[in-house]
Amino acid sequence: KPKLDNLKELMSTRLPESTYQLLKDISKSSGESHVNVYLIGGIVRDLFLDYPNDDVDITVEGDGISFAKQLVEDYGGTIVSHESFGTATWTHPNGEQIDVTSTRLEYYARPASLPDVERASLKMDLNRRDFTINSMAVRLNPRSFGKLVDPFHGQQDLRSNTIRILHNLSFIEDPTRIFRAVRFESRFNFKMDSQTLTLAHNSIGRIKDLSEDRMIGQIKALFNDRAPSKAMLRLFDLHFWRQFDIQDECRESSTIHVKQLEGIYDRVFEEEYTINWINYFAIPFYQSEVLDKIEPYLMSRGDRKFIQDVKALMNQSELLEMETAWELHPKLKNYSNEAILFFVTARPDTNAEPIVDYLVRRQKLVNYLTGEDMINEGYKPGKYFRNILLALEVAVLNGEVDSRESAIEWLLKNHSKS
Ligand code: CTP
Repeated sequence: KPKLDNLKELMSTRLPESTYQLLKDISKSSGESHVNVYLIGGIVRDLFLDYPNDDVDITVEGDGISFAKQLVEDYGGTIVSHESFGTATWTHPNGEQIDVTSTRLEYYARPASLPDVERASLKMDLNRRDFTINSMAVRLNPRSFGKLVDPFHGQQDLRSNTIRILHNLSFIEDPTRIFRAVRFESRFNFKMDSQTLTLAHNSIGRIKDLSEDRMIGQIKALFNDRAPSKAMLRLFDLHFWRQFDIQDECRESSTIHVKQLEGIYDRVFEEEYTINWINYFAIPFYQSEVLDKIEPYLMSRGDRKFIQDVKALMNQSELLEMETAWELHPKLKNYSNEAILFFVTARPDTNAEPIVDYLVRRQKLVNYLTGEDMINEGYKPGKYFRNILLALEVAVLNGEVDSRESAIEWLLKNHSKS
């Protein structure tokens, strides 16, 4: 296929109609205001890949904030601007949000050579970005609407599935880019070129300079994206895990664990389900027997509960011998699906079937009766209610009870009222 130098066709066919219309509107305003306006960043990459992306980023050669104000005048809506960054977010009356940035600083940096600087300033904007595939822009001005600006040959790298940084200090300047590189590799099934990989490897120590929040933000994005097992392995290649005292030898057991987990999840959850990132992040810690070292990185109550559950489960290997809902339910009742699945997939020699089967049935568990119902049926309130209701849950899990009526019948038959 020949290379594209204009993306108008792609934009009109691949973007949602309302977004395309918005770009046409922006185009019209740019013509009237005589400023150069570009669509920029991830959305340009995703247009080529036909990957959904509703983050519309616009950059203006000149003053982005005044242009955003112009858009409000022309089409309504509101803006929130950050004067010191020269950026604004325009909320269109239909609710869509557009980020508008400016290259104004560069623009005024060399006022003597205006036309050059205009062109150079977009280039400077692209030049400070992470990878060639993210450093493309599409011109929106009416006369050249759709024209691709691609000084670093991002299109070529998209075709060869390559993640390539623009310059050697890129990862040093911004270590979060190491995670971004791994994320784009997993998401698109791309690969870093050898130089980018080497530099990522050499710069991994810089990750320590990031705050915990920023690092975890990146890890979350990574493991909530496609192919988390690939991402995990890549982080082993980069020796990322060493900083947590996780041994390289855990690579293999971690691989088995993550693959088993991915496989089993599809069975327990019918619809497409995104496993919470912590399930993946915890694997190398677990396999290296340093689960305590994960504590500082737990960000929510849910994360903490997950780790607590896993720790409690790992001391109950007898669970792996149990087969019936009658045995399993009282023991597993209060643990989340995620913690249980993490536990049963941790070792390759475990027969996970009975527990997986139990979880599949547990998903559909209905509580047909409450203590209130039992009182209404004439039972005297007491602590023993709890055991009866638990036994009822097991009966439901076993398919012996499947409605409110059959639950009452079961109750009256199995439990006397005195
Ligand atoms: N960018 C960068 N360095 C970073 C983060 C972002 O150079 N550390 C640039 C890239 O050009 C990127 C753009 O800013 O395309 C927008 O960033 P962001 O919205 O975070 O990412 P996307 O590339 O759009 O990716 P995603 O689909 O994950 O949002």
